[in-house]
Amino acid sequence: MSSVTCTAPVNIAVIKYWGKRDTQLILPTNDSLSVTLSQDILHSKTSISANKGYAQDRLWLNGIEEDITKNKRMHNCFRETRALRQRMEKEDPDLLPLSTYPLHVCSENNFPTAAGLASSASGLAALVFTLAKLFDLPTSMTDLSRIARQGSGSACRSLFGGFVAWEMGSEADGSDSRAVQIAPDTHWPELEALVCVVSDAKKGTSSTSGMQQTIESSPLMKERLRVVPGRMDAMKQAIKDKNFQTFAELTMRDSNQFHSVCLDTFPPIFYLNDTSRGIIQLIHEYNAANNGVYKAAYTYDAGPNAVIYATKENMKEIIELIGHYFPSSDEKKSTYFTDPYNVLEGKGFSNEFPVVNQKFNTSVIPIYPPGSVSRLLHTKVHDGPRTLGEDQSLLNSDGIPK
Ligand code: DP6
Repeated sequence: MSSVTCTAPVNIAVIKYWGKRDTQLILPTNDSLSVTLSQDILHSKTSISANKGYAQDRLWLNGIEEDITKNKRMHNCFRETRALRQRMEKEDPDLLPLSTYPLHVCSENNFPTAAGLASSASGLAALVFTLAKLFDLPTSMTDLSRIARQGSGSACRSLFGGFVAWEMGSEADGSDSRAVQIAPDTHWPELEALVCVVSDAKKGTSSTSGMQQTIESSPLMKERLRVVPGRMDAMKQAIKDKNFQTFAELTMRDSNQFHSVCLDTFPPIFYLNDTSRGIIQLIHEYNAANNGVYKAAYTYDAGPNAVIYATKENMKEIIELIGHYFPSSDEKKSTYFTDPYNVLEGKGFSNEFPVVNQKFNTSVIPIYPPGSVSRLLHTKVHDGPRTLGEDQSLLNSDGIPK
């Protein structure tokens, strides 16, 4: 039996992918750009074992067995990686015929899927990376990203650490639609992120169906497709120059424009809720009080959770500010903010208003009901997928989850 275990990170786009020109191959209507967040805080972990004695391919996701044949997108990733392995086996008959062996796949996230955090990107990236390791594929990350893309568009960006662009490409077969690293995680170590998990019981429109509804019905989407190329160039330059001012403004504008095309979709799609909008107002007031020099930037994916990008020097203040206006409920106090980088120095949240610039208008938003934000996850920009030791496997030696 051959077995491999890997983890892959979550990425949060600052120039959003929204819209497909080919829904089968998952080819987007615009380039996008994301930041890879630390796997120490958020990751998907996948173990795969190949054994000619297994009866069939089997898949366990977050502890529950799923019918692998019903998961078309995963199936695409299996087909593509098996084909590459088969080619290697043809050239080298000494290789184990792993491409013909049934596979057992076990995958889990270290964050609750119910938290609404993007799990498809890290999950599909972990799957494709683990398959490539298992099959010992000599394929480059950029080539692998074309396969991950067919699992979930945003997954292609989770194959790299740091700052990653997904180039939309123009070929009909998708051969030039792939991810490339703009800068490694070590390039801008001061940049950090705070994920604000916003409570929301409703299950919203999935990104897959939401983006197609936008393509079909939003006239504003034409305008978005006109401005994104310029934004991509400006964002790449801002990252290269570590220019937080440009980075922050483009990030907020692009998130706002993405949610505007959602509102312009007919019928409209709402991903932001009242808490999300409160965080937007708070961040704008925080920046305005600093004479309009940006200290923080928000961005939202297809859900109400905020991701706030800021540099290290301002993160403590931002955490205290969010903690003040969006306090924890009593039940969730122990998990609300676990402070992995010890910014509060073991002191926890104080009852006093955090020290911010005097110009700050403290009544910009009310203090929200406890629990409106259920969790704050402080994280940094970090590396791409990691291969773990065998002792970390999610599968027993018989190929069944532990
Ligand atoms: C709003 O990658 O989840 O997070 O390709 O259909 O699987 P599919 O969609 P998905 O869409 C992500 C959309 C987004 C923006 C982004 O991550 O760029």
